[in-house]
Amino acid sequence: MKNLKIAIGSDHAGFELKEEIKQKLQELYLEYYDFGTYDKTRVDYPVIAKDIAARVADGKFDRGIIVCGTGIGVAIAANKVRGIRAANCNDIFCAKMSRLHNNANILTLGGRVVGPGLALEIVKTWLETEFEGERHQKRVDMLE
Ligand code: RB5
Repeated sequence: MKNLKIAIGSDHAGFELKEEIKQKLQELYLEYYDFGTYDKTRVDYPVIAKDIAARVADGKFDRGIIVCGTGIGVAIAANKVRGIRAANCNDIFCAKMSRLHNNANILTLGGRVVGPGLALEIVKTWLETEFEGERHQKRVDMLE
């Protein structure tokens, strides 16, 4: 797997899964920075999503992973930032396709949707799948 630098974060609903994902990133020897939240106290997901999206968009991090209850709110928030292609993938097929065809640079997950076993497989698949480029590059360029 490529040596990726990853920005990770969650709201309270995604906190437990975020902690599991951090362990997985350690096992994969991947560098990451945790943008919070750091406990289960209620927080507003747009704040954390915007923070991570800004760091990925400015190139300080290669990819981002953000977890909320469904993965939907953080994906909507992250996609407001220019240059961000956040994909909410709660299954392995979409995780793979979001990289192959969409060159997604942020993965969002629902801590209330997927269990840790599936979520970690989604993360691994998403991190190791490369963008196919070619005909898809033109379409991704059109998003900008
Ligand atoms: C928090 O209750 C929940 O709304 C949030 O985690 C997320 O699922 C929003 O999309």
